[in-house]
Amino acid sequence: MSSRSAWRALHYSAKRRAFQSPAPYRCFSCARRAQEQPKSEHERMTHFGFSNVPESEKESRVGAVFSSVAASYDRMNDLMSLGVHRLWKDHFVRSLNPGSALPARDCDTPNQQGGGWTILDIAGGTGDIAFRMLDHATNINHDLETRVTISDINGDMLAEGRKRSLDTPYYNTRRLSFVEANAEHMPHIASESVDLYTVVFGIRNFTDKQAALNEAFRVLKPGGVFACMEFSKVDNPLFDAVYKRWNFSAIPLIGQVVAGDRDSYQYLVESIERFPSQEEFRDMIQTAGFMIPGRGFENLTGGIAAIHKGIKPIVKA
Ligand SMILES: C[S@@+](CC[C@H](N)C(=O)[O-])C[C@H]1O[C@@H](n2cnc3c(N)ncnc32)[C@H](O)[C@@H]1O
Repeated sequence: MSSRSAWRALHYSAKRRAFQSPAPYRCFSCARRAQEQPKSEHERMTHFGFSNVPESEKESRVGAVFSSVAASYDRMNDLMSLGVHRLWKDHFVRSLNPGSALPARDCDTPNQQGGGWTILDIAGGTGDIAFRMLDHATNINHDLETRVTISDINGDMLAEGRKRSLDTPYYNTRRLSFVEANAEHMPHIASESVDLYTVVFGIRNFTDKQAALNEAFRVLKPGGVFACMEFSKVDNPLFDAVYKRWNFSAIPLIGQVVAGDRDSYQYLVESIERFPSQEEFRDMIQTAGFMIPGRGFENLTGGIAAIHKGIKPIVKA
């Protein structure tokens, strides 16, 4: 075959491939499309990855995902992010400086004054953020009073967190506690009782994100801080293309090989795509009543993740 005809054969076979219908894309949500009908015409729908599902179903579907990934969650985080999630988490905690001196506030009970921070780590899962915050308070600020409650809707994720806590100095102390609860509705947590509310890689899974932000506002003391780290929107189109390729090709595959669960990791990457942009999410935080410092968010690694902060205003009488 002449080089010209060889080129032509290659060219046309490539073209044919390009026009062939692609291999069916296995979308976690698509597999369940038959169930995706509202139970009544009044039932509201919401996202579950790329699917729309009745709001009443989302919580149990998200629950199934995290129950399935709980045991492999920490190992998978390292593999999926190539370890970068540890750097982001360290930076997040350093930027909050837990255990540093707090101003005395009217709403503090006598034993809270000068008595460390009360931190609520929502969607705290396996404890990655909580343990870092306690370590920072203890080792950097020499504060042995700051306490963290890890709250999560999923008992299996909390069980992994409890297991990990056995290897920390906080196990079985008043500095660390666990609560199983939905972040959208936490009647067991008193209003104006928390100094710092954190939610890391959790809120994109919530059914009603605005309800959770409103609850955050309620439980925080005036002057208290809301801090969220979540996957976000990459600002450079070229980097975004590479990142999306990694997310949609590598992550479900790693999930399949390492955790034996492709579908859950497919959901996790789809849920990242569905999460609002930095600006949209900042506006939701503002809608809940928070004051926004500066532009309200800090991009990490080109916007793969972003840290959002809000402060509950102190209302002067
Ligand atoms: C991706 S994990 C993040 C865990 C941990 N914060 C971290 O960064 O490693 C998301 C967590 O959100 C929890 N979650 C999902 N929906 C929730 C809800 N409505 N209320 C509280 N936690 C929820 C899940 O159970 C899961 O443990």
